[in-house]
Amino acid sequence: MGVVRQLRQISADEEGVDIAFRADVHAGLSQKQKAIPARWFYDATGSALFEDITTLPEYYPTRSETLLLRRHAGEMAAAIGAGRAVVELGSGSSTKTPLLLEAIDPAAYVPVDISGDFLRESADALAARFPGLPIYPVEADFTQKVALPREICALPKLGFFPGSTIGNMVAHTAVDLLRNWRSALGDGSLMLIGVDRIKDIGVLELAYDDPAGVTAAFNLNLLERINRELGGTIPIANFLHRAVWNDVHARIEMHLLAACDLEFQVDGRRYTMAKGETIHSENSHKYGPRDANLLLRAGGWTPVATWDDVDPAFALILAEATEFRSAP
Ligand code: AVJ
Repeated sequence: MGVVRQLRQISADEEGVDIAFRADVHAGLSQKQKAIPARWFYDATGSALFEDITTLPEYYPTRSETLLLRRHAGEMAAAIGAGRAVVELGSGSSTKTPLLLEAIDPAAYVPVDISGDFLRESADALAARFPGLPIYPVEADFTQKVALPREICALPKLGFFPGSTIGNMVAHTAVDLLRNWRSALGDGSLMLIGVDRIKDIGVLELAYDDPAGVTAAFNLNLLERINRELGGTIPIANFLHRAVWNDVHARIEMHLLAACDLEFQVDGRRYTMAKGETIHSENSHKYGPRDANLLLRAGGWTPVATWDDVDPAFALILAEATEFRSAP
């Protein structure tokens, strides 16, 4: 079967720039607290830098989650069952996916990712490894409405949302996303979702501010991308990477800090920043066991199993689409 075809559901302008990127950058830079959504990290350079992050000794989430998949693949397979269409949200390079696909014997695989080239490469690699499996890559922003390939409509679905990417969203947006995917995947579907746990602040901050500076490069690449794609004049050398724990919101925040008063243009529009001002570039929310279950229920998913026996702590949660009639 292999890769059947790649669907593209992204709107770009004449220069090939994502229309939503341009809009988000101007809206975000015009706010009092400047902020740009974290999904714009993932151009080709950003996606490659994130892959580097996942191999850092300080960045535990990938290692902890991979260990959970290895350790509990049998139990997960028993709970999930064979013959499902696996729809992966934000598949990236899909390094954890083979562990899941090998265990559960799925009927189809649908990786959904915003980075088209990355998607193509990883879909090809998976096709070589699972020659009998039909693969339908979808180039799309999984936080928006995504049209699933017709060929899988009759199959029971498993949403696979690893990496604690849900943590990038504030609760309101996370619930919207979970509800959208509850309706897109339909009755009888399951969701296997990775959630990072609240833990020692030192461990958390080091995971997002590594001594080798890879996370700093990842954060600063957002500014490079703005300069590259939107004709920006941002003086990148005058920005510093910051990663801080916000205890009220139970999240790591990444910021780009202006090291001096500065001004720049994007698309010919002028912006100024005072020394010490920041552009908020990412939230990474962390969840205790009850927090995670509440979030899933609010989004229309009922948790049925949790695997979280790893250190540093991380959880994989299996949830089923909640019956709309569930009482009272
Ligand atoms: C890909 C969203 C899971 O929040 O841990 C890693 C992204 N940012 N280091 C995370 C990220 C900085 C990552 N996710």
